[in-house]
Amino acid sequence: MSHEDDAFEALDVFGGPEGTAGTSEGEDTEPEATRRAAGEAESSRASRGWWDRNADEYQQDHGTFLGDDRFVWGPEGLDEVEAELLGPVEDLKGLDVLEIGAGAAQCSRWLAVQGARPVAVDLSHRQLQHALRIGGGADGVGLVQADAGVLPFRDGSFDLACSAYGAVPFVADPVKVFREVRRVLRPGGRWVFSVTHPIRWAFPDEPGPEGLSVSASYFDRTPYVEQDEQGRAVYVEHHRTLGDRVRDVVAGGFRLVDLVEPEWPAWNSSEWGGWSPLRGNLIPGSAIFVCERD
Ligand SMILES: C[S@@+](CC[C@H](N)C(=O)[O-])C[C@H]1O[C@@H](n2cnc3c(N)ncnc32)[C@H](O)[C@@H]1O
Repeated sequence: MSHEDDAFEALDVFGGPEGTAGTSEGEDTEPEATRRAAGEAESSRASRGWWDRNADEYQQDHGTFLGDDRFVWGPEGLDEVEAELLGPVEDLKGLDVLEIGAGAAQCSRWLAVQGARPVAVDLSHRQLQHALRIGGGADGVGLVQADAGVLPFRDGSFDLACSAYGAVPFVADPVKVFREVRRVLRPGGRWVFSVTHPIRWAFPDEPGPEGLSVSASYFDRTPYVEQDEQGRAVYVEHHRTLGDRVRDVVAGGFRLVDLVEPEWPAWNSSEWGGWSPLRGNLIPGSAIFVCERD
């Protein structure tokens, strides 16, 4: 199925929670971008609102690149078929897999095609509506709306957990998320997640040459916040250095097995926000952490 305009219009038949899809408190005036503290509750509230309001545009812009049942780890286009970070593709059959911050659950859909039993979790109702639009709910993918910091599953429910840019960059307390993931994994279970490569925080988020000069301290962990006129956060991203991320993984009860920094491949001429072939050939854009439950 392709992501065509009429499919997006048809999405409205699913309805949605009041005051979310297509509406925004900050829609009339541009939010102000700043760096300031943002706690767990404020970050979660901002993320839910932002992804509900922007899910349509996100899927419209990136849906073709993401495919309907491809597992892509990030804007470089590294595909799980070649990366096998979750293990050999043929071994996925019959495994219970949790996808965190799944968006429209394209990765989960690929996992289901391989014979796994995926459950896709996302904070945003609108993102999950897109999952329904693509898969119709009849594709063996469970869809659950929840915050990654409070997973509504019993201990030891899953063999694997994964996330492609989902939740982790947006939460104030990633260790809390990792502990939750650890709790719901079975012993020895793998947890693989991708995030913006931390070095990118030192550069402007621009795809062109202006994105190649250092403009901020890599060591400044102050979150990036967009806020409305009342000072309420409408978008939050949290920066952790590479060392912070490693320490968070360990504090969450995992062993780090690999850290993958995908190189920009020659075939990929697409830009995705600040990710571009120009920058991708010079500095890393994504970091993928491959962890195992201790
Ligand atoms: C950049 S999108 C990635 C979506 C999908 N993995 C993909 O590759 O298209 C980030 C997703 O994380 C979700 N998210 C953000 N904070 C979250 C949280 N605290 N818990 C669960 N999901 C969250 C957002 O709603 C959004 O769908």
